[in-house]
Amino acid sequence: MRLLLATNNPHKAAELRAVLAPYFAEMCTLREAGIDLDVVEDGATFAENAMKKAVETFALAADFDAVLADDSGLCVDALGGAPGIYSARFSGVAHAVANNNAKLMEVMRDVPDGARGAHFVCYVVLLRRGLPPVCVEGICEGSILRAPRGTGGFGYDPYFFYPPLGKGFAELTADEKNEVSHRARAVRGLIAVLGAEGDG
Ligand code: IMP
Repeated sequence: MRLLLATNNPHKAAELRAVLAPYFAEMCTLREAGIDLDVVEDGATFAENAMKKAVETFALAADFDAVLADDSGLCVDALGGAPGIYSARFSGVAHAVANNNAKLMEVMRDVPDGARGAHFVCYVVLLRRGLPPVCVEGICEGSILRAPRGTGGFGYDPYFFYPPLGKGFAELTADEKNEVSHRARAVRGLIAVLGAEGDG
């Protein structure tokens, strides 16, 4: 089955590919497929944004059997769930990772250690021809560090601590992150749904 990944984010694409490789023979990103599409993420939820990305991409994906879109972000308890769906543009500038992280540190400066809980969310939507959509949410719980740790990952990873492994996300190997991340959990949930369809 040929799967189009509705993203041009190389980090997301690598994580999706790693988890999906056993299940899809061929995967392309938008750029690899020669599709120039920048979906306006104006939904009110991760689910709405992911569905919008999936639908707009599917309309351009005649050469593919399926499209997988994800919308993801960081939700911080002490900030009432912010930045949430605005994670990519928390600082006001889209995809300005250093500015987003600087703003996170600034707004979290006075938040005490016991109140720094946060979680990553990833909502995935799979659209296929003639079949119902498959939508799954993955969540990964952790907390916000006071200073960056590690050099791996992307986005907010250097500031996200994952207690079960006693490490920050940017300190994990790619394989470790792909075991526990919100994206990996969502994709594994999706694979479970596809497996159940096959059994039914
Ligand atoms: P999206 O492209 O709208 O899904 O933007 C997601 C944003 O959330 C990214 O730009 C990152 O800032 C953040 N994000 C999502 N997943 C991760 C992750 O696995 N690690 C670190 N940051 C992430």
